[in-house]
Amino acid sequence: MALVALSFFSNPPSSSSSSSSSTTFHRYPSHSLQLSFRSSSTLSPLFQTQHSFFSLLTKSQPPNNHFFRFRFRFRLSTHSFFPCRCSNNSPNVDVEFGTLISSFQEIGISFEETKLLLLKSNELTSIQLNSLRDRVLSLHSLGLDRVSINRLVRECLTMLTTNEIDPLLSFLRNELHGQLEQAKLKRLLLSNEPKNLSAFPQKVRLLVDRGVPVNKIVRVLNKVNLSKAICNRSIDEIERIIDFLEPFGGVGLIVKHPAILNHCLDLKLIPRISVLTELSGGDEDGVRKVLNNFPFILDYSVKHVEEHLQFLRSFADLDDEQIFKIVLVFPAIFTNSRERKLRPRIQFLKDCGLDSSDIFKFLIKAPLFLSASFHENLAYKFVFLVKIGYKYRTKELTMAIATSTRISCENMQKVVSLFLNYGFSFEDIFAMSMKQPLILRYNHASVEKKMKYLIEEMNRDIRELLDFPAFLGYKFDDRIKHRYEVEKGLNGGQMSLNQLLTVSSKNFTGKRKKDSSVKSELE
Ligand SMILES: *[C@@H]1O[C@H](CO)[C@@H](O)[C@H](O)[C@H]1NC(C)=O
Ligand SMILES: *[C@@H]1O[C@H](CO)[C@@H](O)[C@H](O)[C@H]1NC(C)=O
Ligand SMILES: *[C@@H]1O[C@H](CO)[C@@H](O)[C@H](O)[C@H]1NC(C)=O
Ligand SMILES: *[C@@H]1O[C@H](CO)[C@@H](O)[C@H](O)[C@H]1NC(C)=O
Repeated sequence: MALVALSFFSNPPSSSSSSSSSTTFHRYPSHSLQLSFRSSSTLSPLFQTQHSFFSLLTKSQPPNNHFFRFRFRFRLSTHSFFPCRCSNNSPNVDVEFGTLISSFQEIGISFEETKLLLLKSNELTSIQLNSLRDRVLSLHSLGLDRVSINRLVRECLTMLTTNEIDPLLSFLRNELHGQLEQAKLKRLLLSNEPKNLSAFPQKVRLLVDRGVPVNKIVRVLNKVNLSKAICNRSIDEIERIIDFLEPFGGVGLIVKHPAILNHCLDLKLIPRISVLTELSGGDEDGVRKVLNNFPFILDYSVKHVEEHLQFLRSFADLDDEQIFKIVLVFPAIFTNSRERKLRPRIQFLKDCGLDSSDIFKFLIKAPLFLSASFHENLAYKFVFLVKIGYKYRTKELTMAIATSTRISCENMQKVVSLFLNYGFSFEDIFAMSMKQPLILRYNHASVEKKMKYLIEEMNRDIRELLDFPAFLGYKFDDRIKHRYEVEKGLNGGQMSLNQLLTVSSKNFTGKRKKDSSVKSELE
């Protein structure tokens, strides 16, 4: 079987098929072809039947020299097929036709169907037949399965018989190393005209020339709609997109978010980015940040974005500069429904007494408040906060909400129970959180570790936290433990928590040096 395959693939190019397609085929590393061929289970029986099958045909239907050179004719009335011999090339035609039949059978196209297909495209010459077989094999080795090749042959035979496809196939093989996803390859070939495929390699090389790293190009291609982004665009247009995106991250942005290439430049990219540039007052660098952090913003229509902006201007009384600052920290604001999310939440902030400048500060600090789920998140936190002692419709409540947006309800619940377990009352927790709102968002495990250390190692009263709840926010090893140990060695560790932790590292180190020199003088 290996021998049969070998002889099949090592067929020298016939004199009649010195077209570029054949050259393409023979540039192929022959071992990979043999491998892909040998791995297909039904192949060898087909190969073995090929010759007898074919000789049967030629025996029953003697060659007819009336028909044109390089062309096959099919006699449908008798449902039989016979190739005409070309005067200058008779032995090769048999072989070419035979191998084509077996290649096609291999992808599930019967002899009868092959006959019909070839009849439909009666302009086929034997040169094209030969390349057709090469191309089918080429697709197979690029990873296309039989079903897909079958579909291609049935639906787009002209695609496989034009020479325009050869540069594409050799590009996919030699430069992209067959790494284009099968589904992409399939769609590429099924839904584009040959003329729009021939420049494909050139367009991809342009992307690389303009800066898409070679090791990222396949990923980029696998993530775009190739018909839209590459085939249906002229080289100039691709160039224009890259130029336009230059101030906003250019090729880097494309690599990060290839789907950007799917957008039409004039109808989508330019107007959508212009809305942001206008909002920012011409701050291209700011717009670049927004686009790089949240490229999906480009999926929203100008109308959608404008309506959000208009809403923020009129309902929250924010100006464009404020809105753009909010967009900078929370570009996903445009994904939240105006009526279901933005309006009730901003209304809540207004109810708590926030004016537009407070609302701006709140949203810069806690933009996630706008998108968090009410039932699964905010409602739980409200309950806790109200239990602790926060009053509805107060600014304090909004402050506590702002600091708790980034933590899970579970963590918040654990922190609160931890305080209760250590003997604090709800009033205490409320008082501490008014001093240091962040205590509600510290990680519960870290809070517990610090509380234990305070009691067990530092021998302090846990209620010192009431005066200095910020203790719970300092880094454990670097600040709390380190400073306590240094201080204990020098002064017996009785400095107040506030003094111990708030002085800057520089002052702390300076003081320590001074103290130890005093100490060494005393000794
Ligand atoms: C790619 O874009 C074309 C329109 O240009 C569209 O018809 C096709 O469905 C798109 N393919 C995918 C996979 O989205
Ligand atoms: C190709 O682009 C033109 C406009 O340039 C558009 O009208 C047409 O629908 C596009 N075709 C596909 C398949 O995307
Ligand atoms: C082929 O590309 C041209 C532009 O280069 C476009 O106008 C045409 O619609 C494309 N055809 C298809 C089927 O995409
Ligand atoms: C460091 O000490 C100097 C002098 O005691 C003081 O003026 C300064 O504010 C201190 N810096 C900090 C960050 O504590």
